[in-house]
Amino acid sequence: MKNEMENDIKKVLYPEDVIKSRLEELGEALSNDYAGKNPLVLCVLKGASIFIADIVRHMAVSLQMDFMAVSSYEGTSSTGEVRIVKDLEASVEGRDILIVEDIVDTGLTLSYLVNQLKSRNPASVNICALLLKKKNDPSTQRMVDVKYVGFECPDEFVVGYGLDFNEKYRNLPYIGVLKEEMYS
Ligand code: IMP
Repeated sequence: MKNEMENDIKKVLYPEDVIKSRLEELGEALSNDYAGKNPLVLCVLKGASIFIADIVRHMAVSLQMDFMAVSSYEGTSSTGEVRIVKDLEASVEGRDILIVEDIVDTGLTLSYLVNQLKSRNPASVNICALLLKKKNDPSTQRMVDVKYVGFECPDEFVVGYGLDFNEKYRNLPYIGVLKEEMYS
């Protein structure tokens, strides 16, 4: 059956099979780096929910998962203000933390989160992001280091595989660019 959201998509950037094979590579790197460490793998809701479900199944190590929600975006632009909407349940102290994020744009959301987590005395904090937006403007400073990156994507508004536009398109199995008329 044809996907009824397909007409809203200008182009597909990462088809399902491309995402799947990149996740296998990322999973191998993560398995090597976190072997024996029992990391606490944090999902930043809601965008990373689909990515984390897939990536943890490519990590051949014992781990724990927890979920956190922050908000900084409305529509296609950042409000510039980060709020914790849902905090973690697990204790962070002494743990190796892997933050799993859908997409890093300015890095504002994650730099806030990393600072929050570091104040709780973890053993380490690293970031695994499915997408890292390439900034067209070279003067734009990214505010965090992202150790594990799925793909460097164009500086466009993308949806699918967890990423939304006003809560829609998260369940698209691929990642694509939305037609301008959908948000103008
Ligand atoms: P940052 O704080 O500018 O790095 O933005 C990160 C957050 O903004 C991500 O976790 C997403 O929720 C959202 N975001 C940024 N760019 C996009 C996009 O192209 N599509 C959907 N959500 C996005």
